[in-house]
Amino acid sequence: MRQLIAGNWKMNGSFAALAAYAGGLKAGLARVSAVDLLVCPPDPLVRPLIDMLASESVAVGAQNCAEKRAGAHTGDVSADLLAELGASHVILGHSERRMDHHETNAQVRAKAEAAIGAGLIPIICVGESSAERSQGEAVTVVRAQLAGSVPEGFTGVIAYEPIWAIGTGKVPTEDEITQIHEAIRTALVRQLGEAGAGMRILYGGSVKPDNAQAILALPDVGGALVGGASLKAEDFLAIAAAAAGG
Ligand code: 13P
Repeated sequence: MRQLIAGNWKMNGSFAALAAYAGGLKAGLARVSAVDLLVCPPDPLVRPLIDMLASESVAVGAQNCAEKRAGAHTGDVSADLLAELGASHVILGHSERRMDHHETNAQVRAKAEAAIGAGLIPIICVGESSAERSQGEAVTVVRAQLAGSVPEGFTGVIAYEPIWAIGTGKVPTEDEITQIHEAIRTALVRQLGEAGAGMRILYGGSVKPDNAQAILALPDVGGALVGGASLKAEDFLAIAAAAAGG
C-alpha cells in the first residue's frame, strides 16, 4: 500500500507565508510521486492552501471537527463545512486536544462518526504518556483508546503518537514501534474485521528527514504524521522522499 505522509501544522502557519510554502511543495512533488501527501493547516488556511497548490496530488485536511453536524455550538467547525471547503481528511483525538480540551474517547468517536458522515477521512490518534510507558502500560492504554475512540464500521487511518515523543526529539526504538503497531493491527482486526487488516497505521512523534527512512521501513508503518518538520516544505518533502525509498 502507498504510504501516507501527513503534516500536522498545529497552531502554526500564516496566510502571509502560505504561498511560499505551496510553491516549495509544488517544486518538489515530482520526486515523491510514490507516496500520498496530506497537509493539515489551521482551518482558515485550508481553502487558500488548496487553491495555491492547485494540485490533485497533495490533499489538504483539518486538525479537528465538531461532534455535532450543525447547530448552536458557538466556535465549533463542522465536518460538513470542512468537506465543503475541500478538506479530505481530519485529524481527531490528537493528544494535544485530549489534554488541552479534555477530549474523551467517546467524543473522539462521535467526531469520527460526524467526519465519516460528511465524507471526510478521519485520522484517529492514540498514544501513551511517558509515565504509562515506564509502567509497562503502553499497549494497554493504546488498546483502550482504540476500543473507545474507533467507531463501528470505521473507515480511515490510525496514527500512533507516543506523547513523550511529540516535539521532544525522542523517538521509540524500532522494536517499540513495531510492537505497538502490531498490537494496534491486532486490535483493529478484532474490532473491524477485514477493514482493520488493511487500515493504514501512521507513526508520529519527532519524525525528521534523518530518521524517516528507518521508521518508514518498519513493518506495519503505513506512513507518518509529522509535526514540526512539516512546517518547512523542504523537510516535509525529504520525509516523503524517504518513504518513497528515495
Ligand atoms: P512532532 O513531529 O513535532 O514531534 O509532532 C508530532 C505530532 O504531534 C504530529 O501530530
